[in-house]
Amino acid sequence: MPKLMIVVGSVRQGRIAEPIAQWARRTAEADGRFDVDLADLREINLPMMDEPNHPRLGDYTHRYTMDWSERVAAADAFLFAFPEYNYSFAPAIKNAIDYLSAEWNRKPVGFINWGGNSAGTRAQTALRPVVAAVGLVITKPNVEINFAQKQLDDDGAFIPNEQQATVLAAQLDELVLLDGALRPLRG
Ligand SMILES: Cc1cc2nc3c(=O)[nH]c(=O)nc-3n(C[C@H](O)[C@H](O)[C@H](O)COP(=O)(O)O)c2cc1C
Repeated sequence: MPKLMIVVGSVRQGRIAEPIAQWARRTAEADGRFDVDLADLREINLPMMDEPNHPRLGDYTHRYTMDWSERVAAADAFLFAFPEYNYSFAPAIKNAIDYLSAEWNRKPVGFINWGGNSAGTRAQTALRPVVAAVGLVITKPNVEINFAQKQLDDDGAFIPNEQQATVLAAQLDELVLLDGALRPLRG
């Protein structure tokens, strides 16, 4: 069973990232094809990347980097859930990527993005070259949500519309296919 890591990529107080990531988690768990690990970057609390060596050497000096490395290495596929800030990605997700190298290589990733009018499309576009640099392979379908606050129910849970649910389902299918194709290429 592929291990799917869902990365919660906003760390600010009052973030909508949490209910959106919880929707992804519920959906992936109900799907039944994944062993899901929710990686909340607020809990993980990595400082700004401060390792002295280039991550491609895997020569980490901090306990928190070793823990992050072990957790990412154990994953077979990823969903990155992150918002758009100032026409680009929110910074925590880029920082979490920068810490590591080989742990990402030849693994699939799907994006779940949100924002105002943009629905997070500029954040998604900005992160594409970053994930390519570490060898992640992005799915074709990617979830984009505008004004996500309108989709919270009275308990604060994110309720997807039909299109968002369809895209997430297609993304999960694609993660399974890409994991199967890329797995033999991983060491
Ligand atoms: C610093 C900051 C910059 C933002 N810039 C944009 C933006 O450029 N485009 C956009 O559509 N929304 C922008 N927003 C709105 C966010 O997409 C919205 O607040 C969303 O809830 C942020 O996700 P979060 O709550 O998970 O942090 C910005 C929000 C913040 C806090």
